[in-house]
Amino acid sequence: MDIVFADISYLDVIANIERSCFPEEQAAKKHQFCERLSVYPKHFLLAKDDSGDIAAFINGFVTDLADLTDEMYTTPSLHDENGAWQMVFGLCTRPEYRHRGIAKSLMEKFLSLAEEQGRKGAVLTCKQSLIGFYEQFGFVNEGISQGSVIGGVQWYQMRKTF
Ligand SMILES: CC(C)(COP(=O)(O)OP(=O)(O)OC[C@H]1O[C@@H](n2cnc3c(N)ncnc32)[C@H](O)[C@@H]1OP(=O)(O)O)[C@@H](O)C(=O)NCCC(=O)NCCS
Repeated sequence: MDIVFADISYLDVIANIERSCFPEEQAAKKHQFCERLSVYPKHFLLAKDDSGDIAAFINGFVTDLADLTDEMYTTPSLHDENGAWQMVFGLCTRPEYRHRGIAKSLMEKFLSLAEEQGRKGAVLTCKQSLIGFYEQFGFVNEGISQGSVIGGVQWYQMRKTF
């Protein structure tokens, strides 16, 4: 798997992967990805297999705001290239590519870029079932998110400080 920066030419495939990973009410929409790819393509990574197929992606903007809120998902203009925190808005692996360590590789690359860029750390929200998954990267559970209620489920905020 190669890890490459995304650009707008991958819009359709990214939107399709998102739909294969989340129920409708939780999935980011194509127009949202279009905005994200326009505003912060350097914070959007893809995992590409030998045949050029895109297996997975990770994305999120950078901000001085310490807590992740739903507004961030829909407002790319809140991105601040000099911000302290690398947010993680989505980590998705197409079902047929799962259990091969692809999400792990993407997350490790995303975190190493953020650390090289001098960020304070990274923040994400996740469902309870994935807390253990993110702990392997050094994320610490901060409890139920106050700022994210998207899809009507309970989200936990997790933070890794470099
Ligand atoms: C979560 C997701 C990104 C993982 O993708 P993946 O490429 O299969 O992940 P990896 O192969 O790198 O890692 C899987 C490994 O992580 C570990 N892991 C997974 N869930 C875990 C958990 N809850 N606790 C501890 N470890 C966990 C296991 O060791 C697992 O190994 P296995 O595949 O042998 O079972 C993928 O299942 C997905 O896209 N799900 C739908 C979208 C989603 O929920 N994304 C996260 C948003 S918060």
